[in-house]
Amino acid sequence: MTDLSQPSLPGGLPDKRQVAASFSRAAASYDSVAALQRAVGVTLLDKLPADLAPERWLDLGSGTGHFSRVLAARFAGASGMAMDIAEGMLRHAREQGGAQYHVAGDAERLPLADGSVDLLFSSLAVQWCGQFGSVLSEAGRVLRPGGVMAFSSLCVGTLDELRASWQAVDGMVHVNRFRHFEDYQRLCAGSGLELVGLERRAHVLHYPDVRSLTHELKALGAHNLNPGRPSGLTGRARMQGLLQAYEQFRQPQGLPATYQVVYGVLRQSAAEGQ
Ligand SMILES: C[S@@+](CC[C@H](N)C(=O)[O-])C[C@H]1O[C@@H](n2cnc3c(N)ncnc32)[C@H](O)[C@@H]1O
Repeated sequence: MTDLSQPSLPGGLPDKRQVAASFSRAAASYDSVAALQRAVGVTLLDKLPADLAPERWLDLGSGTGHFSRVLAARFAGASGMAMDIAEGMLRHAREQGGAQYHVAGDAERLPLADGSVDLLFSSLAVQWCGQFGSVLSEAGRVLRPGGVMAFSSLCVGTLDELRASWQAVDGMVHVNRFRHFEDYQRLCAGSGLELVGLERRAHVLHYPDVRSLTHELKALGAHNLNPGRPSGLTGRARMQGLLQAYEQFRQPQGLPATYQVVYGVLRQSAAEGQ
């Protein structure tokens, strides 16, 4: 039997209730700052097999529902479900239409029947899951024969400039942790699903200053939620230290923030499922 276990991320991931609460709070501001998330989702859509014609699709970690609306337009006539762990995101998405169903659920324990989905689309959500192996097992369970899972996620290397700058200031955990690309490779290879494609691409954003970056992370709901993060406000001296340390990375376009994005497409074998 394939071992889908993986070492937990060092120091663990944030509590899921905190993740849900943080994204719920960010529902109203998310879309105004989600340029990278838009670009990544569009790239992921381009990776869907050209002949895909799902009867039922699932947008997992659907957030404000932007890509649920894109999927609904692309697969008109199909039945679509938006699923997220954050109720606030679901409320926001529901008001704007797209999916027929908006359901609260966890990617690691899908509240869905076996063999009930033809397309599982998930953009920039599973980096919040402690056990990506569980996400893959659940995908394998709910996908119909021939069904497709397309996901994007983040891996080690993401926000390294911010991580290194904080390291120089106080050595504490200020940036979310990510799993290695090699873990995505290993887990996808052992998932029992056919691996259609898996790649890593760097996206580099530029900011005029550090505060623009940290404000954006907060507006996305994606600021640091790790166990072990420093509590309370950042003191003036430490903030000054951070600004100084980040300056070493400055480029002509501004301060860079690198995102290492993983794109994966997997397919359920035609004989699997129900
Ligand atoms: C960065 S947003 C991406 C939203 C949307 N897919 C997009 O591309 O705009 C990540 C979303 O994943 C959701 N999420 C995080 N952990 C989850 C989990 N375990 N199960 C389902 N959704 C989760 C968050 O609540 C949030 O709405």
